[in-house]
Amino acid sequence: MSVNRYFRILSVVAVVAVCTVLVNGGKAQSASAGQNSGPQSSSNPPVPKKAEEQFKNIQVLKGIPADQLFPTMQFITASLGVECEFCHVQNAFEKDDKKPKETARKMMEMMFAINQNNFEGHREVTCYSCHRGNANPVAIPAVMTEEPEAGMGAPHQPGGEKAETKQPNGPTAQQLIDKYVQASGGASAIDKVTSLVMKGTIDFGGKSLPIDIYSKNPEKRISFTHLSDGDSVTAFNGQEGWLGSPGRPLREMQGSDLDAAAIDADLHLATHLEKMFSKVQVRGGEKIDDKDAYEVVGQREGKTPIRLYFDQQSGLLLRLVRFGDTALGWLPTQIDYADYREVNGVKVPYRWTLARPSGKFTIQVSELNQNVPVDDAKFVKPASPPEPSKATTK
Ligand code: HEC
Ligand code: HEC
Repeated sequence: MSVNRYFRILSVVAVVAVCTVLVNGGKAQSASAGQNSGPQSSSNPPVPKKAEEQFKNIQVLKGIPADQLFPTMQFITASLGVECEFCHVQNAFEKDDKKPKETARKMMEMMFAINQNNFEGHREVTCYSCHRGNANPVAIPAVMTEEPEAGMGAPHQPGGEKAETKQPNGPTAQQLIDKYVQASGGASAIDKVTSLVMKGTIDFGGKSLPIDIYSKNPEKRISFTHLSDGDSVTAFNGQEGWLGSPGRPLREMQGSDLDAAAIDADLHLATHLEKMFSKVQVRGGEKIDDKDAYEVVGQREGKTPIRLYFDQQSGLLLRLVRFGDTALGWLPTQIDYADYREVNGVKVPYRWTLARPSGKFTIQVSELNQNVPVDDAKFVKPASPPEPSKATTK
């Protein structure tokens, strides 16, 4: 299986993106969930490995945490609309045989310089700003050939992704969060949820596979997607996250993926939102599946923000967008929730679609049990095989 296909499958089936183990078989020293790009000044002992310490030929991205290298590569791939092989020789990522790889290094330097010289060092311009999913950016405006389709290929609006429609008489962010808690059944009902056991199907790329999901308070979650040759596993035990797939060594979650996994595993997310955010703002309205929604942006201390879209009618959460940090820009993950049903006084989505630049999947729950006993042993990480050394892997 090509590395590429492997990445696809991973990012489709797993809750997280990719981790460093894939290529060099090693595992990063630390699973720091820090979100800052660039070198991390962490005072707690296991100092995250730097990219140049783990990889063989890092010239520009020196100093970034090693666990950010893959997300950064995914960011590039998504920004240019290419595959890894556009720049890399298969199974020899360190080689500089392909011209686009050299160009990409120059482009990184250029991007850093643009931001340094024009935006006070804020990462305003990224690869995507110019490339927009193409290897060759378009420099000339297009003529109109057909009626523009809503949402498709709509011209980029200068000055941001969306005009900030301030709603002077609309609800505040805090009111929307409170309404969400109420709509979900109220704080005490939500906080009484101790576990969730779900059976259903996961649909992606025209396939439909059975999936079992176990969640347990606090912040434990494991899912088993049943493939023909075994289970694909995505797990988080409150501290560590890992991915398993048939015939492959266990892979550890790193960086932003751990943050994402913690959010997914939180059975009391609705009541935790208030504490999670250092600042919340209503950004305006949006239509999601014909429903009018309010967008709330929650800033988090030292982490990427989270965008929440609440149904203006029901108050329920229709969409959550979170971001994985990379050295070059943010990689978005969008989760749309639907088919809310009431279980023991709490509203639970029976369907959700998770979409990333690399692909998407939908999970539909068919059977759900709340507050049933779930053995803690389910969330114990299997022992990983001894770490192959760098020298022995190709
Ligand atoms: C547009 C070009 C481009 C694409 C596409 C790209 N990369 Fe890279 N990659 C680079 C560049 C440039 C470097 C070196 C960065 C530096 O020197 O700081 C690199 C470095 C790497 C390294 C480190 C190799 C080593 O040992 O030094 C790995 C691993 C890697 N990329 C994996 C991937 C994967 C996996 C993908 C697909 C998801 C991918 N790359 C897509 C340009 C690209
Ligand atoms: C300011 C706009 C801009 C930004 C930002 C930018 N690029 Fe480019 N890039 C271009 C243009 C324009 C070209 C085409 C140059 C040409 O045709 O010779 C290009 C070409 C490339 C190519 C060569 C494509 C090919 O067909 O060989 C690669 C690879 C590339 N960019 C990677 C990146 C990466 C990676 C980033 C982010 C680190 C990035 N670019 C950021 C404008 C940009």
